[in-house]
Order: sequence, then structure tokens, then C-alpha cells
Amino acid sequence: MADALDRDHEAMPASTQTFIETLISRMTLREKIGQLNQINASEPDAATLYADEVRCGGITAIINQVDRTVIDALQKVAVEESRLGIPLLVGRDVIHGFETIAPLPIGQASSWNPDLVEACAERAALDAGRSGVNWTFAPMVDICRDPRWGRVAECLGEDPYLAGQLGAAMVRGFQGQDVSDPGRIAACAKHFVGYGASEGGRDYNTTNIPENELRNIFLPPFKACLDAGVASIMTSFGDFDGVPATGNEYLLDQILRQEWGFDGVVVSDWDAIHQLCVHGITETDCDAAEMSARAGVDVDMVSRSYSDHLETLIESGKVSLEQVDGMVARILGLKVALGLFNDPYRRVGEETTSSRNRGLDLVKQAAIESVVLLKNHERQLPLTTSKLNSLAVIGPMADAPMDQLGTWVFDADVSRSITPLRALRDRAGDNVKIRHVAALDTTRSRDTRAFGDAVAAAAASDAVLLFLGEEAILSGEAHCRADISLPGAQEDLVREVRAAGKPLIGIIMAGRPLTLEPVLDDLDAVLYAWHPGSLAGPALADLIFGDAVPSAKLPVTFPKMVGQIPIYYNQKNTGRPATDESVCLIDDIAVGAEQTSFGMTAFHLDAGHKPLFPFGFGLSYTNFEYSDLNLSRDVIGRQDCLDISVSLTNSGHVDATEIVQLYIRDRVGSVTRPVRELKKFTRIKIAAGQSRTVKFQLTENDLAFTRRDRSFGAEPGRFDLWVGGDSASGLEAQFALREDVTT
Ligand code: NOJ
Repeated sequence: MADALDRDHEAMPASTQTFIETLISRMTLREKIGQLNQINASEPDAATLYADEVRCGGITAIINQVDRTVIDALQKVAVEESRLGIPLLVGRDVIHGFETIAPLPIGQASSWNPDLVEACAERAALDAGRSGVNWTFAPMVDICRDPRWGRVAECLGEDPYLAGQLGAAMVRGFQGQDVSDPGRIAACAKHFVGYGASEGGRDYNTTNIPENELRNIFLPPFKACLDAGVASIMTSFGDFDGVPATGNEYLLDQILRQEWGFDGVVVSDWDAIHQLCVHGITETDCDAAEMSARAGVDVDMVSRSYSDHLETLIESGKVSLEQVDGMVARILGLKVALGLFNDPYRRVGEETTSSRNRGLDLVKQAAIESVVLLKNHERQLPLTTSKLNSLAVIGPMADAPMDQLGTWVFDADVSRSITPLRALRDRAGDNVKIRHVAALDTTRSRDTRAFGDAVAAAAASDAVLLFLGEEAILSGEAHCRADISLPGAQEDLVREVRAAGKPLIGIIMAGRPLTLEPVLDDLDAVLYAWHPGSLAGPALADLIFGDAVPSAKLPVTFPKMVGQIPIYYNQKNTGRPATDESVCLIDDIAVGAEQTSFGMTAFHLDAGHKPLFPFGFGLSYTNFEYSDLNLSRDVIGRQDCLDISVSLTNSGHVDATEIVQLYIRDRVGSVTRPVRELKKFTRIKIAAGQSRTVKFQLTENDLAFTRRDRSFGAEPGRFDLWVGGDSASGLEAQFALREDVTT
């Protein structure tokens, strides 16, 4: 039984550090090791199953339990019956919502709207907090350049700056100003580091990341999350330069702790400590525990390698007590920050109808801002109800309440889903006849028997909305695909329905960029919706009928075909960069031509050198015209600020929002530099027919990168600069950074 005095944390000492040190000084070694042990407590009877272990102080955190009664029961044992009354962390993957689901992270990233992303995370925190969760494993800020990887759905795109800005926004949304507020939860930036570079887009696979790429591409979004105050970091499953990240001292100790001074919690990914043995870097679990502890992993997520072996390791001197105390201190620090010692149950009021509705409105807005208009031939969109008598709604994603939510939605309340079919019926009203044919039971189906009905419905209607894509289960963790075309018989469905000769609008819901080239000519318009979440239907109906105007831009490059992967906008120039003129395709080569490489450049004979859609691309129902790019000066010194302005005109007939993007290219560096790098962006709403001036500022820090000698800074020289609506266009200017210039 616990000693009441021992458990009395009411009068917390003024200094958290003293409080933690005192607590640690009173802990037995077993209790310390218990503070490093996170267990999977998903069973309905977890409160009974784990009570003894919690009572002994053997568990620091649970994961995957969201039943408030079970959580409270275990928390009660922890704070009232364990010797020192240390409360539990309650972890859950709250990735893009809880009961109410926002668009996938990659969808949210398409909004390029940090405020909106922050608001979605804030809402998710509130809802998850209500069920007792106090720690989420998000944001995922892995840079991903391979859409075959299932977890591209969870990422914030291919660009380090965009992912960093949005990852930081998520951290702010989850944690708020004060994470001890019961409506907030601790965030966890993951997976440190390089997980997104899994070879071949195969989950859990080995990565190959040169130091230069590590520093300039993969690390910056994590640093942005740290700067936003992220409470924890999760290690990557992957092998990193021969040493799996979960045991990698260079990553976890040198970079994270020493260079960046991170003093928050590092948690392993699921079972990843044990998996060091499977990787073949350690022989036994005991060795694995030693390696992870020495590298800097504080919490062992579910492998129990720490609880089984740390005692022996300390006794043999392989892991020092000092080190363990440091690990425990960081975990206790998180518990203090969460306010758990004062308020272990962190009750959030019941959800009211108006609060629920506000959440639904928010995810609808997020869905609207996440849908990218990829094509709009002859302005087929938006549809005008007054000009329509009938509409064919076809396809396996038109009425799929669960699949529209996407991956990582364990706690979703699917009854909150409004599908496109339902929303279109509501929106179109009695005057527009809707003919619905799913045509395929699932996106994977090859059963074409209902195609006849689909074609008949299309032929009888004024326009066709074709809801295609991937079911939720085809992306996400461990759900990678080698062929990322529309699965099943969907391409055939497009072709058959096209033959009906009606305006054909494709709405694609998917967890990754799909190779759409085979169907692109057949579709008059394409809205790329990712998995838009609970209010997919109303959001899409607003976009389809012009109540909302698309503004989203791609946070990843869309390849024409799988063989182009990896293809990303911030590539290196190479010694032989491809141009439109230099590309020749298979049919351009004369039969029997002699081998030559003269004048040849970096492209594929069967794909050219361009992607299907570049990073940053997205259309609107209006046109935006950029003019008058102006730089305050041509040459700047290190202390100077470069002011950039551009005039933007909405020359169409609807008010709309444009995401203005600023890119630079550092022409010559001590290491080769990308052909373009995103440095700034902003969303701006402009009324039809109006112009506005958009301003940006660049300082030396914006030009900085990790240089050849591994120092971080800008190098003097020439820079190109573009401001425009995507990564492949824009108005261009030049400036130089000079050492000898001072103002
Ligand atoms: C494994 C995943 O890689 C990670 O992202 C997740 O947070 C954990 N499982 C916990 O579910």
C-alpha cells in the first residue's frame, strides 16, 4: 500500500527540477525502470490485467486504450495505490482527428494553411482528451518522395520548409500555450529520422540518406517542431547508414540532444527496441536495450526490453544509473508539464451539440481547403444547378462513409460521415435528378457487371461525377503499393463512362498521389480530394457547385508513372539537366540509330523529364495573374533584409484564394544546391477583378543550409528567385549575397 505522504504531490515545489530530483531520489531502481516502460493496454479488461504492474510502479505509459473508465481505473491505481503515486501517460495515435475526422495530413498539407492545420490539431486534442488520452503520436514530419509508401498519406509533403511550418502548427494545436490545459495533449514528432526514405516505398525498409540530404532535407521539419516546443520525438523503424535509428547514437544523442539541445522525451516506435535484434545490429534483447538506452531512447514502446534487462545492464555497469536518472527525469518532466501530478484525470467537459458542430464545420473547411483542382477543361466546374436537370453520381467512393476518412481513424465516429452522394442529394434539391450507380463495390473490384448501368446513367444525365480512388485500407502504415494507378477496374470504368459523351468530372479520394495519366484525357475536370474526412460530402458539394472555390496546392509531386519515382521539385541540377529541347522520346529514335550520349540529358525515354503535376500546383475557378515582381535591391549583405513584392490580379469572375509561393536557387554552393527551394508562401484572398500586392522578406537565415564543412549558414553568391503559383512557373528575378556589402 502506498504511503499517503509519499503520494502527496499537492504542494508541488516551486521548482519543477527540484520536485523531479526529489522524486527520483526516492525511487527504487525497479520504479525508475518502470518509468521507461510503455505497454499496449488495448484489452477491454486492461484495468484488471495491468493493475498489479501499475501498482508496483512498473508502467509509465499505456497505449491504445480509449475507454475513459478503463483509463481512469488504471490512473487511480497509479496515483492512489502505487508507492510514489506517479501518474500514467495515456498514448494514442491521434493523427487527423478523433471522433470527427479532418482530412488526411497530406490533405491538410495541401491547404498550405498553418492556422487551419493548427485548429484541426487543437480540435483533435480536445476530443481525444475527453476520452483520457494525454499524448499523441503526431505530427509525422517525415519527408517523403515516394508515393508508393503507404505513409505518404500521413506526411506533410515532400518539402522540408512546408512540412516544418505545418508540423509546427500541429504541435501548437495539440499542445497549446500550456499543455497542462486538459483540452491539450502532448505531441510527438516522428519518425526520427529518415523513415520516409524507405527504399522502394516499402514500409520499414532500409534508408540511404547522405549527410547532406539528412541535414538539408530530412532534419529541418523536426527542428521546426522542436522550435515549436514539441514534447516528444519518436524514433524511426528504419536502418540509418547501417545503424537502425532506434539505436543510433549519432541521430539521437549527437544531433537531437547535443546539437539541438532537445530535453523532451524520446520514445521508440512500436517494438523497435526489440527489433534491433531483427535488424541484426544486436544479438539479444539485452543488447538491444543497452544500445537504445545509450543512444538516447527514454521510453520503450511495448517491447519490454527495458523492463526485462535494464536492471542487469545497470548492475553490470553497461548502462549508468546517471543515464537512467536522466531518462526518468525527462519522462517525469513531461508528466509535470501535462499537469498530471495535480490533475491526473484531466477531465474535459462533455461534448455539447454546438461544440460538435463547430468541430464539423472546421473539418468541412479543412476539406474544402485540401481538395486540389488538377484539371478543369473548358471550365466544366463549377456545375450550375439551374442549368442541370440530372446528374449521374458514379463510382465506388461516392457513398463510402468509412473509406472517405482515410487511414489512422481508430476512434472515428462513422455516423458523423456525410458522403458525397448524400450531400449532393441535399445540395442539388428536387429539381436535379440524381442517378447513382456505384459501378464497383470497392475501388479494388474487377467485377464490371454494373458498368452497363453506369453508362446508362451517364448517358441519361447532363453531367457525370465519377468518384474514384483508393479505399482507406490501401494506404497508411504497412500499406504500400508498387503500382499506384487507380486500382481494380476503375480505369476501364472511366473509359466506358466517357463513351457516353457527357461532361465527366473525376473526384479522386486517395491516400497518395496516383498515376492518373491514363485517365486524364478522358476526364474533363479532376478534383483531387485525398481522403477528406467526416465532411467529405458537403465540402465536395460546395466545390462542385461553386459555393466554395478550390485553393489547394499539391504538397507533393505527382509522377506520370511509377518508373519516374523518386521525382521531386527540389532536385539537384546534375551535370546534364534536361530541358524541353533536350528530351527525346522512344519514338524519336531512329531504328538502328548508333549509340550516342552527345547532348543527352537526365530524362526517361518513355516519360521525359517532367512530372504529371509539379509540387505546388493547383487550379482555381478564376485566373491569377502575377506581375511587377520587385526586389528592394540586387545585392544584399549578411545583415540585410531583402524585400520582395509582386502584384497579383484575380482576373476571373469569382472571389478566390491563391497560395503564392516564393522559391530560390542558390546558383553555386560548397555543396550542390537544389534547382528550387521553397522559402516563403502565403494564402491571399482576392475579390474578382481586384489586384493586391503580396510582400515577402528574405534574410540571410532564409538562404542558409548545411554546408560542406557541416556548418550552417548562407554562402555569398548569386541567387535566382521566383514568385508564382507553383514550383514550375513564376516570375523570375536575381539577387546576390555579398560578404563585402554592409548597410
Ligand atoms: C507504429 C507507427 O510507426 C507509429 O507511427 C505509431 O505511432 C506507433 N505504431 C503506435 O501506434
